[in-house]
Amino acid sequence: MKIKPLGSQGLTASQIGLGCMGMSEFYGEQNDAESIKTIQKAFDLGVTFYDTANMYGPFTNEILVGKAIKPFRNEITLATKFGIVRDPANPTARGVNGKPDYVKSCCEASLQRLDVEVIDLYYLHRKDPDTPIEETIGAMAELVKEGKVRGIGLSEVNVETLRKANATYPLSALQSEYSLWSREPEDEIIPACKELGIAFVAYSPLGRGFLTGQIKSFKDLDENDFRRSSPRFQGENFNKNLELVKKIEAIANEKNCTPSQLALAWVMAQEDFIFPIPGTKRVKYVAENVKAVDVKLSQQDLKQIEDVFPKNAAAGLRYTEAGMKSVNL
Ligand SMILES: NC(=O)c1ccc[n+]([C@@H]2O[C@H](COP(=O)([O-])OP(=O)(O)OC[C@H]3O[C@@H](n4cnc5c(N)ncnc54)[C@H](OP(=O)(O)O)[C@@H]3O)[C@@H](O)[C@H]2O)c1
Repeated sequence: MKIKPLGSQGLTASQIGLGCMGMSEFYGEQNDAESIKTIQKAFDLGVTFYDTANMYGPFTNEILVGKAIKPFRNEITLATKFGIVRDPANPTARGVNGKPDYVKSCCEASLQRLDVEVIDLYYLHRKDPDTPIEETIGAMAELVKEGKVRGIGLSEVNVETLRKANATYPLSALQSEYSLWSREPEDEIIPACKELGIAFVAYSPLGRGFLTGQIKSFKDLDENDFRRSSPRFQGENFNKNLELVKKIEAIANEKNCTPSQLALAWVMAQEDFIFPIPGTKRVKYVAENVKAVDVKLSQQDLKQIEDVFPKNAAAGLRYTEAGMKSVNL
C-alpha cells in the first residue's frame, strides 16, 4: 500500500482509505465489535486514512472511530465533517449550517467525541446556501491556526465554490461521490483539483455496495436501509443497473479479481491524486478491498470497461430529488 501526499498542504494518506459511515448507520445491521476489528485490520494492511462525520449515527460514529484508532492515532490521517444538521429525536430531518460560530462549536464537539487533540482533515459536508463560502472557510482556517485542525476540505460543491474557497484558504481535499456509476466530477471538479493541487477523495466508490455484485435484489436491503430511498436501487432502475454490474463481474473474472477490486482499481487508475474510501464494517471485505492496489488496469482494460459501462450509463439519480438540491452548490 503506497502512502501519498493528500493535496499540497502537508497531509498524507494511503492510496485506499476506509469509510466508516456504514458502521453506525444507513446500511443495515450494526456490530461495533466487528467494526472495531475492521478498523484494526485496515491499519494492519497499511490503510492510514479514515473517514467519519459528526452526522453519522447521528453523533455515534465519531465515538466508535475514536475508540478504534486509539492504538495508532498518530500514524493515521483522521478525517471528519460538519455542516449537515441532525437531531437524534428526528433522525430523518436534515439542515445545513456553515455559520462561523457553528463551525467552531462543531469542531469542539468532534474533538471530544473522537477523543483526539487535533483533526487531520476537517470537511464542510455540504455548502450552506445562506452563508458565503468565504465565511465558512474563514472559520475553518482559524481552527487550523488554533491547532485544532491540520487541513480543510469541502464535499459535493461546484467548481465555482471550490475556487472561491481555495482562494480564501488552501484546501487539502475535495470529497465527492465518484465511481463507475457516478462520474459527474470528471467534467469540472477533478480537472480543477488537478490544477489547484487539491486531493480528490472518492466516496461511495463501490456505488454504495451495488458495484460489488453482492446486492441482487431490492429485498436484500433491510427495511431501514438508506438505499431503499435511492432512485438507483428502485424498480426498473435496479434491474438496468444490475445488467451493467454483470458486465463488470465478467471483466473482473477475466482479470482474476473481484468486482469490488475492479471498481476500486478503476477509480485509482483515473488520476494519482484520487483516493477511494470504500466503506465496510466487515474484516473480510476490508481485506478484499485493499488488494485492489494489486489490480493493474491497462489502457485496453480501461477501454473495455468504458465500452460496457459508459459514463452516464447508470439508471436513476444518485440521491432523491430533495438530496440532489444540497449538492453541486
Ligand atoms: N461526503 C459525503 O457526502 C459522503 C456520502 C456517503 C459516504 N461518504 C463516505 O464515504 C465512505 C464510503 O462510501 P459508502 O460506504 O457510502 O459506499 P461504498 O464504499 O461504495 O459501499 C459500501 C457498501 O459496500 C459494501 N461492501 C464493501 N466492500 C465490499 C465487498 N468487498 N464485497 C461486498 N460488499 C462490500 C459494504 O457492506 P457492509 O456494510 O456490509 O460492510 C457497504 O454496504 C462512507 O463510509 C463515508 O465515510 C461520504
